[in-house]
Amino acid sequence: MSNKKTYSIEFGEVWVNGLRSDSIVDEIKSRCNIVDVIGQHGALKRAGSNHKGLCPFHGEKTPSCVVSEQKQIFTCFGCGATGDVIEFTKRYYNLDFQEAVEKLANQYGIEIRKFGGGDNQKREAMYELNRKAARYFLDSFRKIPNPALSYMAKRGLDAKTLNQFGIGFADANWDSLYKYLLSEGADVNMMKELGLISESKGKCFDKFRNRVMFPIINTRGKVIGFGGRVLDDGTPKYLNSPESPIFLKKNNLFGLNLTRQDINKNDCAILVEGYMDVISLYKAGVRNVSASLGTALTENQAAMLKRYTKNVILCYDSDGAGRAAALRGMDILRAAGCNVKVMHVTDGKDPDEFVKAHGAEAFYALTKTAKPFADYKIDLIRQETDLTTTEGSLEFLHRVTSVLKSLSPGEADLYIGKIAADTHISEGAIRMEVFGNGFGGGKKEEPVNTAVRTEQDTGRRKDGTDPVLYLEKNLIRLMLAQSDFIQRTQPYESVFRDAVYRKIYETMKGLYREDEEIDVGKLADSLEPEEVAVLSDILENVKLTDKEEDVFLDCVTRIRNERLSRREQQIIQMLSLADDETDLAKVEELTRELMTIQQQKNNRE
Ligand code: GTP
Ligand code: MN
Repeated sequence: MSNKKTYSIEFGEVWVNGLRSDSIVDEIKSRCNIVDVIGQHGALKRAGSNHKGLCPFHGEKTPSCVVSEQKQIFTCFGCGATGDVIEFTKRYYNLDFQEAVEKLANQYGIEIRKFGGGDNQKREAMYELNRKAARYFLDSFRKIPNPALSYMAKRGLDAKTLNQFGIGFADANWDSLYKYLLSEGADVNMMKELGLISESKGKCFDKFRNRVMFPIINTRGKVIGFGGRVLDDGTPKYLNSPESPIFLKKNNLFGLNLTRQDINKNDCAILVEGYMDVISLYKAGVRNVSASLGTALTENQAAMLKRYTKNVILCYDSDGAGRAAALRGMDILRAAGCNVKVMHVTDGKDPDEFVKAHGAEAFYALTKTAKPFADYKIDLIRQETDLTTTEGSLEFLHRVTSVLKSLSPGEADLYIGKIAADTHISEGAIRMEVFGNGFGGGKKEEPVNTAVRTEQDTGRRKDGTDPVLYLEKNLIRLMLAQSDFIQRTQPYESVFRDAVYRKIYETMKGLYREDEEIDVGKLADSLEPEEVAVLSDILENVKLTDKEEDVFLDCVTRIRNERLSRREQQIIQMLSLADDETDLAKVEELTRELMTIQQQKNNRE
């Protein structure tokens, strides 16, 4: 399958797993004047407040392509092409949305901050400087004796593990690294920018002194920053590199460079808090692990993990801070579409201590007891409320309801039974709180959404106009259940705009035989791994009800409505550009079409 351009998320200001950042699109639109862009492909003449020229999309002799500088849109009254500068570029060069954005950015010297700002050359130089520093720390660490080596040995780490993580030592002198980097011809400002040195009263000195150095390496193998730990009880315990053009904390997870294959193989990631947790677990043989480094988990970090697995076990420290961080992290991961479980070690304060005392097997056994996020939250609420009092029961009910509301109705239902059995609160009362009085009646408004979708869909958006992918998902799910839906979907197949979904659909169409259901094994054989992942996600997460026909009709209606709305917007846009010279018949035709569309929309509502 063609490798989709998805830039590394660690630098992903723009494309994060195919998700579009609106800021760049706005910037393109504000800086690439549409009159300019279209003007390059054919003369445009001023016509009133607009510009006009021959339409580049169909052969014509009299100009009917109107370009509005004010609105930054174009419309051809001859062939109906219409849109903004990105749409124009897409059509003219036959590009997809992302390619069109890149082309315009390139042409107009807009830097796509796929690298978080700063130009490429500078970034490469920064990586190189960090690499030299890491190398220097590593060499100091190998000198025997040195206090960092004995400290790490005391913590139970062997040479092999220390090497794997590139652990180093920043010695106690004021300027060893500074001098070394100077002798290597490095740029002093860059050293400062990377937080390797600081300057005070005109003198430069090393930021990290007498510390064990943990290089932070991204999944492309580049050293993007450091953490340095004191060798005693000094403070701060950890000193971390500041943010820099190559180190955005929200975009990185420690250890992922080493562990992502294991995470993928295990189809599970264990997320811990600290450097030492990752390293100890890794040494013990628990390799599907990564750390968020004590800061609150971010959406980007969740999205990064989800590239390798959607099953995440949060194993934060057992203290209050760790528990609070787990609660927040869980919501972020859920929102990213992950299955989240939570555990705390039962002995020792953190995974490092636990695994050193009990070994990998015991740790894995413990992961089996990790609680699904809803259980974790409900148990916590139980502990924090007093069910023997009325106020306590009400508070419990209130808080539990908000947890249940975040679940699919099916899941919520399971918990309602459990909670009722565990407390003296009746199922009916809980149900009423969660679903409201008209329980069941609410389903009509959004059947696909509530009855079939089970997870929050943060699916890829290819171009901002795409809604989430649940129509595609549901249609594919239906076709898998009943192959005649493959036939019946054909008039609506343009809904499959995402390349992966389109491929799955086309493949199913190829395999379709009348009166035979699709053989999922065969289907998977004809797909690329990325596509199979999407397929199994659908099988797993899009639940079938016995109302397949309703779901299908609902999908179809939604597709139709979407098409109507899109066309409606287009026509409104086109009409807004009509002027005295515009072919009156064309304007009337568009107006009639608009009225029909609006009527059709009204009839449905
Ligand atoms: P050990 O005490 O060596 O076992 O470290 P740890 O990795 O277990 O760290 P701990 O659980 O104390 O904290 C978790 C993570 O939070 C650390 O790995 C650091 O990334 C971060 N952290 C801890 N203390 C500090 C600090 O003083 N300053 C900063 N900036 N980060 C810290
Ligand atoms: Mn620790």
